Amino acid sequence: MKKTPNKVVLIGAGAVGTSFLYAAINQGLASDYVLIDAFPQAAEGNAIDLSDTMSVLPFPATTIKAGDYADCKDADIIVITAGRPQKPGETRLDMVAGNAVIMKTIAEEIVKSGFDGITIIASNPVDVLTSVYQEVTGFDQNKVIGSGTTLDSARLKRLIADKLNVGAQSVDAYLAGEHGDSAVAVWSHAVVMGQPISKYIKDGKITQKELDEIRDQAVHMASKIIELKRATFYGIGAVLTRMCRVILRDEKEALMVGAKLNGEYHNNDVYTGVPAIIGANGIEQIIEWELTQVEQKQFDASVATLKATLIKARE
Ligand code: LAC
Repeated sequence: MKKTPNKVVLIGAGAVGTSFLYAAINQGLASDYVLIDAFPQAAEGNAIDLSDTMSVLPFPATTIKAGDYADCKDADIIVITAGRPQKPGETRLDMVAGNAVIMKTIAEEIVKSGFDGITIIASNPVDVLTSVYQEVTGFDQNKVIGSGTTLDSARLKRLIADKLNVGAQSVDAYLAGEHGDSAVAVWSHAVVMGQPISKYIKDGKITQKELDEIRDQAVHMASKIIELKRATFYGIGAVLTRMCRVILRDEKEALMVGAKLNGEYHNNDVYTGVPAIIGANGIEQIIEWELTQVEQKQFDASVATLKATLIKARE
């Protein structure tokens, strides 16, 4: 079967999905885009609006259209952002019931379409819903990828960078585990311009207390944004664009994606944020850091929370 070059299907044409598409289209990522939404008018209106970029962008898309699940058949990547948004004061895990039902329906439709590409999921609670999707579809676990703690880690890097007065891309620091309240700051692997973060503490540039506060700020960033403007979408949109680019261009870059664990980090059977090499084949390798005892304990607790929620989601 001949594939359309770089076809990306978006399921969920809300603020997150369309922010992703807008970034992807501006970066000239794919040639063809299809939008699917439970409200066909939202898909159609956004498809027309986004098509208006075609004559003015440097690397315009070839087609941007509203479609249905039949369009998934020859897609390279499906990005799922469907689900109801988080309300102020709510945790991501609180949204599981309704969004798990939506995810199961989407998964069944995608299987029926004959799709055999890579799925990226951002719908929340993302770790649980990525697990549900992979279980329902039976797709190869390496071809189903959650956004994991990619965004959480991006937030952590920015906050550390601000404190140390360096560029955010000079900071290697990560949150692992749940994309949510139990995310684990992996300080043992935090490095700034080749120096471990412990050296910055030793030199008096930052304290452990400040780092712990930065972790909390990064973890609660989405709640803050939701209080201020009711939803988050640009950050996650940029993260999804990065994930798609790494896959379509086979960049084999390490990202903190949601990957299904099979004994890595002493856990299994659930998707969660861990460092992994991503390329044309999806998740090509999970990188196993040696965690400290404290980090491992926090990671285990994060996974336990996810597993308890996953049991509810499977019902
Ligand atoms: C956030 C949403 C994507 O963290 O969960 O902004």
